[in-house]
Amino acid sequence: MDDAPPTLDGKDEATKARLISEADRKARHWYSDAPEDEFKAGSDAHRRAMCRMFHDTFNPYKPAVIDWPVLDAETLERITSLPIWDIAVQTEGKARLRMAAYAATIRDPELREAIGLNGWEENRHKEVLSRMVEFYGIKLAPEPEYKQPRDTEWAYMVTGYSECIDSFFAFGLFEMARRSGFFPGPLIDTFEPVIQEECRHILLFANWLAWNRATMPAWRRPWFELRVAAVWAFLGYERIGLARSVDADGKEQVQDNNFTVNGARSVSAEEISVYDLMGLCLEENDRRFAGYDRRLRRPTTMPNLVRAARWVMGKTRDIAKARDIRRARRRPARNALPGDAPGLVQGAVY
Ligand SMILES: [Fe+2]
Ligand SMILES: [Fe+2]
Repeated sequence: MDDAPPTLDGKDEATKARLISEADRKARHWYSDAPEDEFKAGSDAHRRAMCRMFHDTFNPYKPAVIDWPVLDAETLERITSLPIWDIAVQTEGKARLRMAAYAATIRDPELREAIGLNGWEENRHKEVLSRMVEFYGIKLAPEPEYKQPRDTEWAYMVTGYSECIDSFFAFGLFEMARRSGFFPGPLIDTFEPVIQEECRHILLFANWLAWNRATMPAWRRPWFELRVAAVWAFLGYERIGLARSVDADGKEQVQDNNFTVNGARSVSAEEISVYDLMGLCLEENDRRFAGYDRRLRRPTTMPNLVRAARWVMGKTRDIAKARDIRRARRRPARNALPGDAPGLVQGAVY
């Protein structure tokens, strides 16, 4: 980047703290003073805005200078035994390669830079994870060879949609881990910018999708939508089961490819219903996106699916409740006392 943000090299502690907090605030807020109608999907202004947002919200933290907190034995055991570290490192490695590969095919310099920077940030996530894993002595499986994708647009879409699913659940789980104290405060602070960065990534992806759809020739559109459907089908299939991989000792090991969806029990001792977890994910999703210009498109599929699932769950619960009440009223009042209303079993109606 030509006008790269300042680095922390050679700065005193007070200046570092000030720069970190400024960078953090900038990474979470971005507004454009462009006129309202300039944000039409597919317009040059829309393309410039999404690229500018991505550039301006860049957070210059450096994995090499992260101070990893020393953890007590119990916390260390809890964290190192999570079945996610191999897949997390490999996912970042794959994402970096796929984004860089797609960026190299883009003609527009601003968009190429934005998606290229996205790939660079994925590599930084991988570095953060690798340093953490090394510091806490987590044994990783040997990384597979990351293959250059042949169909770069497909690979970018698989990564983008995959991040839309994972980030949506990660927002809620991360907040749960913060509230429950599963992750100690300093570790939460360390990973906070990484989680917010994923929010920026899916914001860029959602806008790229809208821009791409609006600018492609009409004849390409049905083929593109078929590919989008195929990406969702592929991701659904991938997430149904558990991925198998080989561990550091060469043994086959089960890795949770779906941790972000079913990991609530792993990050909190408190029971949370699926309904409430979904609610927390929705709240966190809204909170993390709230600081960005509302004219930029947001990822909508996961929030809409989850809202619909919660609506169905709520309705099902209401129907079951009403059915229980009806049954209780019809049941013979075996334990009714003289003077009780006919047909009512004590304590059965709520
Ligand atoms: Fe990432
Ligand atoms: Fe990402």
